[in-house]
Amino acid sequence: MRRSAILGAGHYVPTKVVTNDDLAKLMPTSDEWIQQRSGIKERRFIEEDGIGASDLAIPASKMAIERAGRELKDVDMIIFATLSPDVTFPGSGCLLANKLGLPGVPALDVRNQCSGFLYSISVADAFVKTGAYKNVLVVGSEVHSTGLEFTARGRDVAVLFGDGAGAALVGAAPDDERGILSMKLHADGAGAYDLWIPAPGSRNIPRITHEMLDQGLHYPKMNGKSVFRWATEKMPEVAEEAMREAGMTIDDVDLFVPHQANMRINQYVAMKLNLPQEKIVHNIDRYGNTTAATIPIGLSESWAEGRLKPGTRVLMAAFGSGYTWAGAVMKW
Ligand SMILES: CC(C)(COP(=O)(O)OP(=O)(O)OC[C@H]1O[C@@H](n2cnc3c(N)ncnc32)[C@H](O)[C@@H]1OP(=O)(O)O)[C@@H](O)C(=O)NCCC(=O)NCCS
Repeated sequence: MRRSAILGAGHYVPTKVVTNDDLAKLMPTSDEWIQQRSGIKERRFIEEDGIGASDLAIPASKMAIERAGRELKDVDMIIFATLSPDVTFPGSGCLLANKLGLPGVPALDVRNQCSGFLYSISVADAFVKTGAYKNVLVVGSEVHSTGLEFTARGRDVAVLFGDGAGAALVGAAPDDERGILSMKLHADGAGAYDLWIPAPGSRNIPRITHEMLDQGLHYPKMNGKSVFRWATEKMPEVAEEAMREAGMTIDDVDLFVPHQANMRINQYVAMKLNLPQEKIVHNIDRYGNTTAATIPIGLSESWAEGRLKPGTRVLMAAFGSGYTWAGAVMKW
């Protein structure tokens, strides 16, 4: 079976820059608190009403397809990872397919939050390996800004997230040496309520009430300490697993593209893996946590900066709500 590979990566972030000082005008927080705890300096928010995850995905997708040396018409499958779909249903993948002018192309939405991109790559990898599809467009795209609570109650979460999109075109590896070498996925619902949005939900009669809105149950809730503990344990673990399966050690890794939840988490993970800081890709300082989009944005920017070249051995790891976590190794 022919290996699959990411043939090209692209990204797009909205033009509106929101600094920590801007947030401090809306709620009791400070640039110092945010930078110290998370490493975030600024993030991007959509400029106006009506821009959804599928809209941010359009330029990211076109960039990934072009860099892969393919054309839009070559895309025969779309996988769209997001926790902030344009609407509850249908999936943002269907909306994107329509906006890209790809009628009839299958579109699958993946709901795996911060691990969504790697989970989606694993599906694309399987489709390409079996020959079911040849050029799978994998997207991670989020509009968080319209769903955050900019008050004292929501400040722990609101300062962490930003809007953005990343995309990758997955197809057959150009040669036998390159491509996705390993992929490891995990989930544990025991941590489901450590990072979640309680309402609206199909289990509630009725799904949404004025009381729920007053209580802010439609905003994300997080047990930050628990997420931190789990992430710093599971990310190094799954990274080791992925390297083992790929027959590699940490010394073989040229570039580490981790999910961007928190600079402190990534520095801790790198220390635990014994990985030099200069091999880590960071963009959290500029974009905050863009959830499913963080890793493809990291790949796209690394490629543009010349850090990702044919033969570069890349380790990726993610942890997020669910809980879900994933690791992968590829030779670019
Ligand atoms: C969220 C996080 C930065 C908080 O850091 P922490 O050291 O655990 O801080 P605490 O929760 O103990 O809060 C410390 C204080 O800061 C306050 N605080 C919370 N958010 C604040 C904000 N935005 N600005 C200022 N103060 C804030 C708290 O209310 C608390 O005040 P108190 O001591 O008077 O009760 C940290 O837990 C974290 O990074 N967790 C992982 C989050 C994550 O990665 N989520 C996404 C996963 S994909």
